Amino acid sequence: MASSSKLALIAIAMLFAFSLKHCQASLTPNYYDYTCPQAIPIIRSAIRIAIAKERRMAASLIRLHFHDCFVQGCDGSVLLKDTPWFTGEQTALQNNNSIRGMEVIDAAKWAVEAVCPKIVSCADIVALAAKDSSEYVNGPTWTVKLGRRDSTTANKDLAAADLPFGGDNLDVLIAKFARKELNAKEMVALSGAHTIGQAQCVTFRGRIYNETNIDPGFALHRRRNCPPSNNAEITNLAPLDPVTPNSLDNKYYKNLMQRRGLLHSDQVLFNGGETDGMVASYSRDPSSFYADFATAMVKMGDIDPLTGSSGQIRKICSAIN
Ligand code: HEM
Repeated sequence: MASSSKLALIAIAMLFAFSLKHCQASLTPNYYDYTCPQAIPIIRSAIRIAIAKERRMAASLIRLHFHDCFVQGCDGSVLLKDTPWFTGEQTALQNNNSIRGMEVIDAAKWAVEAVCPKIVSCADIVALAAKDSSEYVNGPTWTVKLGRRDSTTANKDLAAADLPFGGDNLDVLIAKFARKELNAKEMVALSGAHTIGQAQCVTFRGRIYNETNIDPGFALHRRRNCPPSNNAEITNLAPLDPVTPNSLDNKYYKNLMQRRGLLHSDQVLFNGGETDGMVASYSRDPSSFYADFATAMVKMGDIDPLTGSSGQIRKICSAIN
């Protein structure tokens, strides 16, 4: 075959592959308008009840959406318990004894099922819960696109490979987000979620004892509740943002500029690298942080959803039908 027709064939094949990936049914905010108009208010009220009981739950639910979307796409896979056929994501190192809020999603699902059985996916409930949580703790709001379906499988190895670690360096973090088509600025904006919630001693012990790019007073303070080698205390908690731990604001970035990032992965965002300027700018301008955080959450919610006839609508979020 002449090389020009070979090239044309390759181009057509590439175009076909591209359209397969991009022409799948896309998500839309009014997906349940006719099939279950009560879904959004029912979910919102279940989420608000849970956060009113425990404010940290807002943080846990935002993180749950992140950990769902980064592994196989936003498909509710993080909610699945192990089965004889697969080991789920919950025991991957980044999730084990760490992710929370699954029972809140179950409660919301239960309330929705009572009104519209098998219409609303668990993946969509997780996405709505993240937005409802942000609103509750004074963070920005956004329009959640809907129509995700739930996976019939989960993958521990993929979770271990794709989710970032608190000990990751900047280049690794940038690469992990780039794999999900999120750029460095979007990563910095999304990391602003660390302005709420808690971390366990085991995730920041290395930093407070060994690192030098840390405010000494801050390190000393954190060491009090996180001894260097007592394994009984590795689950002791510290706020990711000690200034306003229950408010989704831009204090996180101000902390980083004072070398008071709790995790190694927090402080690398302001440590002489390419993201320093972004941190400085979000620390000065809360409205640009809010706008970029909301936009990036929508983009994150768009990672590889199952749509059309792929996947299923689970009846119970922790198990496939
Ligand atoms: C940039 C890479 C990131 C790394 C390395 C990372 C790592 C961590 C770690 C180690 C914890 C503490 C977990 C524990 O001790 O049990 C944590 C907590 C948290 N993360 Fe991240 N994270 C990252 C990005 C994100 C993103 C993008 C979001 C959401 C958009 C997010 C939301 C949260 C929240 C809200 C908490 C507190 C959860 C709670 O209190 O239950 N993180 N993260």
